[in-house]
Amino acid sequence: DGLNTAAVAIRKTYFGTGTDNPELTDTAYVTQLNNTADFGQITPGNSQKWDATEPTQNTFTFTNGDVIADLAEANGQKLRCHNLVWHNQLPNWVTSGTWTNETLVAALKNHITKVVTHYKGQCYAWDVVNEALNEDGTYRESLWYTTIGEAYLPIAFATAAAADSDVKLYYNDYNIEYSGAKATGAQNIVKLVQSYGVKIDGVGLQAHFIVGSTPSKSSQASTMAAYTALGVEVAITELDIRMTLPSTQALLSQQQTDYSNTVGACVETEGCVGITIWDWTDKYSWVPSTFSGQGDACPWDENLVKKPAYTGILTALGGA
Ligand code: G3I
Repeated sequence: DGLNTAAVAIRKTYFGTGTDNPELTDTAYVTQLNNTADFGQITPGNSQKWDATEPTQNTFTFTNGDVIADLAEANGQKLRCHNLVWHNQLPNWVTSGTWTNETLVAALKNHITKVVTHYKGQCYAWDVVNEALNEDGTYRESLWYTTIGEAYLPIAFATAAAADSDVKLYYNDYNIEYSGAKATGAQNIVKLVQSYGVKIDGVGLQAHFIVGSTPSKSSQASTMAAYTALGVEVAITELDIRMTLPSTQALLSQQQTDYSNTVGACVETEGCVGITIWDWTDKYSWVPSTFSGQGDACPWDENLVKKPAYTGILTALGGA
């Protein structure tokens, strides 16, 4: 078995990975990325973001995003599309523009309409709004929130739905995988969008975790159930579990357990439709450049060799 074949067999979920354009020159990397026994789904890590797709106002460039969308299509892999509205990786014309509610809503709607229309028919899901919340569950003071107010969320979902009525529309965030103020905030976002009569289909749980301090399996499962009770699906969208380097056998073994718990929580949750790791090899993980002294967060090491975490995932998916 591979990770995806096991995921499909156990509950018709998918298993997939994030990837990025610069890595696609690495032929050994691409061979494994194309291995649909392990990966039935991919997500572009950067190339569909606002700075990549609309670097100048109303001038759209889809070249890099298309490379990954075309790869998914060629491989028969689902594509999770990421993302439409975020406070990060915005081009200068957005961050240093002078905006009113009216002009920013117009720019937001234009961006979403053009990008979603371009990828229509290719995405399983769009992360429509990414990371709108502070840790205490209040809204992040982003340009979107300070200029438009909370209405930017239903506006974004309504605009995406109008451009593609088939694609699943997600709210995606981190630290919403366990109960607390931020998870409650995410549930309130689902209710807010629904209260406008606008479609929202899912909540994406990023799951950027730390070895030895991940939430318990039962806590993750009960939090997933709190979302699905609102009538939306959930997916684990960016799973990785980092450690303080250097790695040891004990840390790698704990990492195996931690991966197994998160994957297991999805498996036992009816509305959990899939699991995506935020790249599969430590060679290309985002972690070391963001958290100094930390890394080894992925199920394959930097030589593209499987770690104990791989076995933890496969076993949790009922594979062997
Ligand atoms: O494109 C420029 C390049 O021109 C420049 O030479 C180079 C020098 O640093 O930087 C390049 O940009 C980098 C970009 O990735 C593309 O490679 C940025 O510095 C770097 O910060 C950026 O990191 C990405 C990060 O999002 C930015 O916030 C990571 O690759 C990406 O994995 C990460 O993904 C996010 C999700 O979208 C949302 N959830 C959290 C997750 C991890 O941070």
